[in-house]
Amino acid sequence: MVASSPSGQAKWSSKTAFVLAATGSAVGLGNLWRFPTEAGTNGGGAFVLLYILCVVLIAAPLLLSETLIGRHGQRSTIGSAVHLARQSGASPAWSAMAVLGLIANTLILSFYCVVAGWVVYFIGTSGMGLFEAVSGGNALGGAYPAQSPDSIREMMPALFANPGLLVGMQSIFVILTVVIVARGVKGGIEAAAVWLMPAFFFLLIGITLYAAMTGDFARAVNFLFSPDFSRVTEPGVMSSALGQAFFSLSLGGGAMIAYGAYASRDTNLGSTSGTIAFADTAVAIIAGLAIFPIVFSVGLQPDAGPTLMFQTLPTAFHLMPGGAIVAFAFFVLAFFAALTSSVSLLEISVGWITEKFGVSRSAAAWGMGLIIFALGILSALSFNILADQRPIPFIPGFENAGWFDAFDGITSKLFLPLSGLITALFIGWVADKKIVNAETGLTGGALSMWRFLVAWLCPLAVTAILVLGLFPQLLG
Ligand code: TRP
Repeated sequence: MVASSPSGQAKWSSKTAFVLAATGSAVGLGNLWRFPTEAGTNGGGAFVLLYILCVVLIAAPLLLSETLIGRHGQRSTIGSAVHLARQSGASPAWSAMAVLGLIANTLILSFYCVVAGWVVYFIGTSGMGLFEAVSGGNALGGAYPAQSPDSIREMMPALFANPGLLVGMQSIFVILTVVIVARGVKGGIEAAAVWLMPAFFFLLIGITLYAAMTGDFARAVNFLFSPDFSRVTEPGVMSSALGQAFFSLSLGGGAMIAYGAYASRDTNLGSTSGTIAFADTAVAIIAGLAIFPIVFSVGLQPDAGPTLMFQTLPTAFHLMPGGAIVAFAFFVLAFFAALTSSVSLLEISVGWITEKFGVSRSAAAWGMGLIIFALGILSALSFNILADQRPIPFIPGFENAGWFDAFDGITSKLFLPLSGLITALFIGWVADKKIVNAETGLTGGALSMWRFLVAWLCPLAVTAILVLGLFPQLLG
């Protein structure tokens, strides 16, 4: 599916394939799992409103900035940033955004594999449930026929209490990610993105319709879309919304620079960035509309935290006609959505290591896989054995964060926005205007608007949110 251009650089076979692959990187556990978790713990509507503003005004313009760095550079993330800096007569130190991105993405992947491990576990349990349903002669019945809604909600706490199982599931996901990246990302990932992402999207819409009809849809809509304006100005909610926008769009100096390098010359990066941002946000909102009606109808708390998705959807699958099949299909597709993201996360460091040190892909992938697995163990164990450890109490806002929350929070609330800030300053002020403007594919008012957002709004807003996030007392 991927043809080589005369210069030897692999290209996506079509514009659609590039959009789907980049959307494949963007759409993942960030939408299904992290968006509802964050919306639930940050007050619902206030968070959703800020999140949408962050996507439109900050993240989408930066998405275009990153993909253009990649397409212009045709190298690894750091290599492409250095290239554009040199061509612009600027210091190669501007590639700091990609260095920061590489570190952040490695840390993100470590806990991402832990959460993806939960998905693997639910593939197992829903697969067994499907087997029971089929052998009980009720293949079209609900999921987990032998359980009650209460016992289904206990599955997550039981998994958390079992460190060996958590780490085992995590290791399965790490190994799969490494195997794909070791073989070379493009063929496998493009195929997965082109077929599985659309399948996933339709299944999710079906589940949402079911949740809307049977759950407490009115309350969910109210929770997600009528903001409590007193919370909109809360620094913690602002930095969570900004962090989620970066996380969900795979921004922050990594994946999108890397994928931009695979886009062909005739791809209009301006319009495709808009499409990707829109699709990613739509999936997050739809996932929210699938999960929150169930949260309210089964009496869970919206701020239940990272277990929310895994406690609500299985309950809905249990009650739903055909739920046994839907549950299994959902977790398998969620697994692929996670895999298209995790592969993009690992590709960043592997692409750079192979380019810089000339080692083989597979050595780089296995080496990084080991590091990621080891770091991830800390996150996995923070739900049990290491539950009392507070690794970064000296950073304001992280006094009570365990390992998992520390890895998740510090990357999305600090590293990714910081990398985005450097990108905005570099593209808005330093990089050669002619090169940059030509790469965007934008003209006229759209181009001026984008330039304004990148040069002025992004740096100012990101700085303000970063500073307020760290020092909320500044607001009084
Ligand atoms: N965006 C992905 C998701 O929503 C996660 C992801 C992939 C990511 N690559 C990234 C996050 C790079 C930050 C940076 O699941």
